[in-house]
Amino acid sequence: MIRLGVNIDHVATLRQARGGVEPDPVWAAALAELAGADGITVHLREDRRHIQERDVRILKQTVRTRLNLEAAIDAPIIDFAIEIQPDQITLVPERREELTTEGGLDVIKHRARVGEAISRCRNAGLEVSLFVDPDLDQVQASLDLGAHAIELHTGRYADASSEAQRRSELEQLFSAGRLAVEIGLLLHAGHGLNYQNVLDVAAIPSMRELNIGHSIVARAVFVGFDRAVREMKQAMELALLK
Ligand code: PXP
Repeated sequence: MIRLGVNIDHVATLRQARGGVEPDPVWAAALAELAGADGITVHLREDRRHIQERDVRILKQTVRTRLNLEAAIDAPIIDFAIEIQPDQITLVPERREELTTEGGLDVIKHRARVGEAISRCRNAGLEVSLFVDPDLDQVQASLDLGAHAIELHTGRYADASSEAQRRSELEQLFSAGRLAVEIGLLLHAGHGLNYQNVLDVAAIPSMRELNIGHSIVARAVFVGFDRAVREMKQAMELALLK
């Protein structure tokens, strides 16, 4: 079974639009879990544009599945993560210079900083995942630096403008996924996944976790959070029949 990590950042985006207290992402997390989510994912950004420290502190107390905290390779955020002790930390780029050309964390260029962040997190007992492009060198470097898992960036696949490009991006996801599993990394994926394009990514062998936010929150506006999460679980499960 592949885990669905529901990213609730954009519930907080809506709250921040008015600077008030609703909708509360903590409620969204509880509803997502009741609907079958296998984990809750939040990104505490340096600019605090959606998720706040208060949200992460409460979620640590209330999440019954797994809490995955996305964080930049930035000392104060890593300090906060170590204090909170989420079940998993996913290191992501936040500044343009930390990106590879496609948008994952450039773990080769920032080897020293990423390596230091990983060892701080590992020493504090956290499971560490790195958000990287489906690039074989980035995958190998992730293992070399001591990550437990990688989350393959599915943005280029999701944004493909032709069927030929979609196929070629999917092939890259498959080959990066194959290498990750062969060398002993746990395999996750996410970004831009929706009810239509999730099936092919869920079918990548040994896929362990998909982190999906925007499309679920967007559907929840119309059908409710419960149904939006259930329908995503169903869309992923169709991959088992492939
Ligand atoms: N995975 C990572 C590392 C992310 O930063 C995000 C949010 O951008 C997601 C998954 C979820 O992406 P989306 O909201 O497009 O589903």
